[in-house]
Amino acid sequence: MKHFLKETDFTLPEVAEVMSLARELKATRGRQASAVLAGQTWAMIFSKSSTRTRVSFEVGIHELGGNPLFLNRNDIQLGRGESIEDTARVLSRFVHGLIVRTFDHSDVERLAAAGTVPVINALTDFLHPCQIYTDAFTVAERWTAPGGDLLASLRGRKIAFLGDTSCNMAYSWALGANLFGMKIALSGPESFRPSKEFEAFLAREGFPGGFTFTTDPREAVRDADVVYTDVWVSMGKEEETKERLRTLAPYQVTASLFAAAKRDAYFLHCLPAHPGEEVTEEVLANPRSVIFDQAENRLHVQKAILTMLARSARR
Ligand code: CP
Ligand code: NVA
Repeated sequence: MKHFLKETDFTLPEVAEVMSLARELKATRGRQASAVLAGQTWAMIFSKSSTRTRVSFEVGIHELGGNPLFLNRNDIQLGRGESIEDTARVLSRFVHGLIVRTFDHSDVERLAAAGTVPVINALTDFLHPCQIYTDAFTVAERWTAPGGDLLASLRGRKIAFLGDTSCNMAYSWALGANLFGMKIALSGPESFRPSKEFEAFLAREGFPGGFTFTTDPREAVRDADVVYTDVWVSMGKEEETKERLRTLAPYQVTASLFAAAKRDAYFLHCLPAHPGEEVTEEVLANPRSVIFDQAENRLHVQKAILTMLARSARR
């Protein structure tokens, strides 16, 4: 049985399978129903707000013939101190999988260790792998001829990630880029440099020194195929808002900074965006900004991930 807690939980051949399955599911949506989750219920335990992740999983599970069960952490006994392990053991008796959005990454690992059903990380403070697979699929779709090898189209490409380079999106992309054979340049203030713990984690995953870091955003975007940013105030960091907005200001993705990347580069953002903070309205509206395709593709890619996990749980 498989879990999807981090990008490297799928092997490279499996990533290729997720991508081609996502392409097929996208092309046949509404025409060809899949019943891979027929008779199944997947619980979604969310401790943080969500628009895209929640809706795409609920719709996706429904479209695969299953039943999504949304559980706000505070509506279940977990919010009143029942242990993560007992929650996993009990829910495993009822449902076929858990989709979890939480703060501590160790929560998803503990749920996976104690339960007997697949667990999907729907964002932790550390990683957001469903988003990274979707982002990679979104650009691969554009770099591939119909029927071509989506994963291969990523190899050798460069992504520049600007702003809060110590957040879940930066870490998750650093891991994903290495897995997909891409180069990644992170650029933010020194105080937002990725932690030593993250560097050690990346090395343990097989990618020592797997990113470059610069405080100069222009250096990072040079020759980049993708320019990426994320909110400056991630969920849970609200108390630091004033300081973050001040320190991160030089890393705003402006039209001029975006123009310093490759001519045919794409702009990506996981959303929600805060126009005027991490990115300008002009860049968000640029024809090479693919933010809403990214949002839509969450559905197709997660349906592919669910399909893979459901197949592996049956074995
Ligand atoms: N990008 C993303 O995960 O969005 P939500 O927080 O709306 O789910
Ligand atoms: N870094 C952001 C991503 C939101 C999808 C957060 O954790 O709030």
